[in-house]
Amino acid sequence: MKKSICVIGIGYVGLPTAAMFASKGHKVIGYDLNQKAVDALNKGEIIIEEPGLGELVKQVVADGNLVGTTECPEGCDVYIIAVPTPINEDKSADMRFVEAATRAIVPNVRKGAIVILESTSPPRTVQDLMLPILKETGFVLGEELLVAHSPERILPGKVIEELRTNSRIVGGINEKSSLEVKKVYESIVEGEIFITTSTTAEMCKLMENTFRDVNIALANELAKMSEELGVNCWDVIRMANQHPRVNILQPGPGVGGHCIALDPWFLVEKSQNAKLIHQARLNNDSMPKFVVDKIDSILGGLKGKTVTLFGVTYKPNIDDVRESPVMHIMDMLKESGANVRVCDPHANEKVENNFDIYSACDGSDIAVLGVNHDQFIGVDFEKMTKNMNNKVIFDTRNFWNREDVEKAGVEYILLGEGKEEN
Ligand SMILES: NC(=O)c1ccc[n+]([C@@H]2O[C@H](COP(=O)([O-])OP(=O)(O)OC[C@H]3O[C@@H](n4cnc5c(N)ncnc54)[C@H](O)[C@@H]3O)[C@@H](O)[C@H]2O)c1
Repeated sequence: MKKSICVIGIGYVGLPTAAMFASKGHKVIGYDLNQKAVDALNKGEIIIEEPGLGELVKQVVADGNLVGTTECPEGCDVYIIAVPTPINEDKSADMRFVEAATRAIVPNVRKGAIVILESTSPPRTVQDLMLPILKETGFVLGEELLVAHSPERILPGKVIEELRTNSRIVGGINEKSSLEVKKVYESIVEGEIFITTSTTAEMCKLMENTFRDVNIALANELAKMSEELGVNCWDVIRMANQHPRVNILQPGPGVGGHCIALDPWFLVEKSQNAKLIHQARLNNDSMPKFVVDKIDSILGGLKGKTVTLFGVTYKPNIDDVRESPVMHIMDMLKESGANVRVCDPHANEKVENNFDIYSACDGSDIAVLGVNHDQFIGVDFEKMTKNMNNKVIFDTRNFWNREDVEKAGVEYILLGEGKEEN
């Protein structure tokens, strides 16, 4: 049955979700406080980058199935909350957006409607934050107003495909809520839909990202220990991973982005028992400083030196620098009096001093590979380093080939490569 659906927050998650529902014939309203996003939507345009989204939005807006508004609409069958859940300076969750979105629903919701939280949230957000607010409607929760958490797990760059094909978790406040919310998603999701409680659903999403974070922290700790103990961590990883039940991840200059680097803090805030998770966050957050200290020791000081950073985004082949560890490295280098040059073909408008591959190292004392963008495959190291003061490359990703670098007369230093002293 076609429904009227209000998606609250039409950003990276909300807009594709709204467009997908609209493409299945539902009448969808995208409600957002950002006038620019709403105006663009009503013109059938988008202000975010995501392959395939522009065409889809254009189509569903032209069909009259998706409209934007800056006022919370009344009487929809379904309200889906997809607003931001950032962290505060002290690493606690900033739940003001979820709270405001929930409050906006209260005067507008009708009996029998469904409210779904999609935003990534700390455990018990539905129970302890949303339900007390939704109670103000006077409806019997779980009977006259159905409520669930269904976390979004899409990968930027593949959002349209993953919205359709990923499995989905639906955690209702009771079975009736879960079953009705499952029916809502069945119209857009081809993957399996698992039913559980709201708090379990919150925990599932957080543990997915925490699993990655903790395992990366282990790899980073291995890199540090290897340098200390005279071992090459990359040899350890390669050989240990031959074991059928071992899969050590890769170390690097830290963990970035707006999910893996943030979500584990929601567990640290809520549970005294999240000790390993807390330590993993600290380990990963310590990597930029570890990299800076190493550059310092390679150069015998940072003041007045010039460092070229290859890649500053939080992962390869994207333009997003949010929470990027290499951006932290850049700040620390500058604070220590170093000059920083950048080569990042993806982060063009986001950083100053951004040069192409073959001029980025001019006058530089060290080249540091921070992000393994595809553009850095097959570079001519002789050409790249020809105007360097000091021909040395520090690879934090084990990405460039040592032999190729050394053949060009350049010293190659690898993160996590300790030298055994016999
Ligand atoms: N971006 C991703 O790849 C991704 C993936 C999985 C989960 N998530 C989670 O999804 C949630 C949303 O993330 P996003 O990346 O889409 O955020 P976003 O910043 O791109 O979009 C959020 C939108 O919500 C709007 N908004 C804020 N408060 C509002 C309110 N009270 N009423 C109406 N609109 C409001 C903002 O103006 C913005 O347009 C977060 O919890 C995030 O952690 C994001």
